[in-house]
Amino acid sequence: MNKKYLFISLITVCSIAFISCSSKEGNQISKRDAALSVIFNRKSVRNFIKERPVSDEDVQTLIKAGMAAPSGKDTRPWEFLIINDREVLDKMAAELPTAKMLAEVPMAIVVCGDTIRSSYWYLDCSAATENILLAAEALDLGGVWTASYPYRDRMETVIKHTNMPAQVLPLVVIPIGYPKGNYSPKDKYDSSKIHMNKW
Ligand SMILES: Cc1cc2nc3c(=O)[nH]c(=O)nc-3n(C[C@H](O)[C@H](O)[C@H](O)COP(=O)(O)O)c2cc1C
Repeated sequence: MNKKYLFISLITVCSIAFISCSSKEGNQISKRDAALSVIFNRKSVRNFIKERPVSDEDVQTLIKAGMAAPSGKDTRPWEFLIINDREVLDKMAAELPTAKMLAEVPMAIVVCGDTIRSSYWYLDCSAATENILLAAEALDLGGVWTASYPYRDRMETVIKHTNMPAQVLPLVVIPIGYPKGNYSPKDKYDSSKIHMNKW
């Protein structure tokens, strides 16, 4: 192998190594920035553009995000109920005291838990709910956690309108749509809540 050929080979190998290292670093930085930006920008949205639908692709992404949550012993006791029937959304809005915004959204996701599969289904389903809210933020959608569990009257309302099996309970109804108006996240950082080693 002559010297010129060896030199060109060396330069090529070094360039490939440099590009692969720098693009890995670039990916890590953008992954960090993207994830933290979604976490710090998430906020409850309660006013929506009623006429603007959420695409099937985005609904699928939201559900996938919910299913990506951690769960105790990996039992995944969650079930996800998508509601886009205008009549049902309006009836639930009328009957649920803290979910009036259902009347203004094109759809909602009810995160439910199988009480037989896990006795602490509500913990796993809470993790799934937060994942859905974060995914909504990432997709420029808005959503808000409206509690069903542990309020018996609210759970009964949801069950009545959705035909849920007996062992399944609704944790939360998440109205989802495009936000109407501007929303800012709250700054909740509070150093007095941090304790190091001992209280
Ligand atoms: C367990 C739980 C129950 C909630 N229930 C309701 C509810 O029924 N209706 C509602 O409008 N918001 C509800 N929220 C949303 C909170 O009001 C909201 O997260 C809180 O005010 C903080 O605001 P942020 O989400 O914009 O950071 C609930 C949140 C949690 C975590």
